[in-house]
Amino acid sequence: MIKLNNKLIVLGVSVIASTALFTSCFAATTTKVDSAAGVYKPTKNALDGGVTYKRANGSYTAYRINEQSTKGINHGRVPTANELKAWDADIMPDGTGLPVGSGTVDQGEELYDKDCVACHGEFGAGGKGYPTLTGGSLASLTNQRTCPGKDAPNRTIGSYWPQASTLIWYIRDAMPYAHPKSYSPDQMYAMTAYLLAQNNIKIDGEDIEELNQDNFKKIVMPNRNGFYPNIDGPKGVENVRAFYKDPKNFGAVGTRCMKNCGKEKVSAIGNEITAVEPAYSTVRDLPKVDPSKGGAVSEAQKLYEKSCAVCHKTDAMGAPPVGNKDAWDKVMKQGMDKVNHNAINGVGAMPPKGGAMNLSDDQVKDIVKFMVESSK
Ligand code: HEC
Ligand code: HEC
Repeated sequence: MIKLNNKLIVLGVSVIASTALFTSCFAATTTKVDSAAGVYKPTKNALDGGVTYKRANGSYTAYRINEQSTKGINHGRVPTANELKAWDADIMPDGTGLPVGSGTVDQGEELYDKDCVACHGEFGAGGKGYPTLTGGSLASLTNQRTCPGKDAPNRTIGSYWPQASTLIWYIRDAMPYAHPKSYSPDQMYAMTAYLLAQNNIKIDGEDIEELNQDNFKKIVMPNRNGFYPNIDGPKGVENVRAFYKDPKNFGAVGTRCMKNCGKEKVSAIGNEITAVEPAYSTVRDLPKVDPSKGGAVSEAQKLYEKSCAVCHKTDAMGAPPVGNKDAWDKVMKQGMDKVNHNAINGVGAMPPKGGAMNLSDDQVKDIVKFMVESSK
């Protein structure tokens, strides 16, 4: 039951994310489609690139409309105590709430390469437009954020997070991206162990090889005492309440913050900062592949990773997963022309060009070819 809910929630989030990308979605309402079922014909007010939903009357809309009756059961109800328990399950710095289990760094590495590498990069090193999980140093945190020409603060799990409990909790509740809350306790420990090891976190001075509910409590994160006032700990909730009772502690004056962050006066950002290494950027490019280090990745594959993998890596979004022969055999029964047409114009919950309207038709066809060939 909870699993099903999660799936729906994930779908909802992806739809919000996709529509947010296209502001035009908020202006337009519905769009007529051509007679051929499922073919999306953009009109002047079309929701180009947005995810569209077919309605009972044949029109399309940017929003999923619940066409069920609003009478009776669809009003919802107060959650039961057990349902609440499933969601209200914190893992606290003192170890309260830790699941019972164990996992090794090696097991974590295997999971990571399967479930996380596409977005967080090799060994968590980033470079794919999603948060960098490893590297970084405590010293870099006091670097000026807005000062071109200097290294920027490098906030990663190892350099910035004060508590490892946040990590295992995050992995349990939010990751892997397309099917959160699907890891067993052993998998949670394995993944946490792997990410901590990649961040050079040690326990009692020793490299982490295996993590469980007992040695977990001995972890001391490098930035453990970096926040002020230091109000974590067993009385954390009471402390935070007391802290924010004082209006001075809101806004610019007393915001809870890192010690010493920004040694220099912060100046407003006028132009885009380009002199920082690595440069600040919103572009989600894959790193350039050096063929001498492990072979070339085709242009189509790079574009696939960037624009399509988020839905096509697994079947969680209802898309035919790349690598699944049966799913793609079924798709290909329609013939390549039709499949290309659908990829370009959208079909069902598949937005036109996967929402990446910057791609040319030929690029989409190349990606489809890659997807089909990778699924034989
Ligand atoms: C489809 C892309 C995607 C995949 C796959 C993915 N993540 Fe994430 N991850 C994200 C995004 C996006 C964020 C930022 C979320 C936010 O800030 O709200 C994130 C954030 C995180 C963070 C917090 C980083 C920080 O500094 O705030 C951790 C830890 C993390 N992911 C771990 C994982 C792990 C472990 C896996 C594999 C089990 C995984 N992710 C798979 C996209 C992904
Ligand atoms: C937002 C999620 C999403 C993204 C992003 C996405 N797809 Fe899809 N795709 C889907 C879904 C869902 C389907 C299944 C649609 C259906 O059959 O109703 C699908 C189906 C397809 C199909 C099969 C079409 C058919 O005729 O059955 C192809 C080909 C395809 N996608 C290509 C791509 C390409 C190429 C990209 C990237 C440029 C991409 N997709 C990005 C969700 C997505």
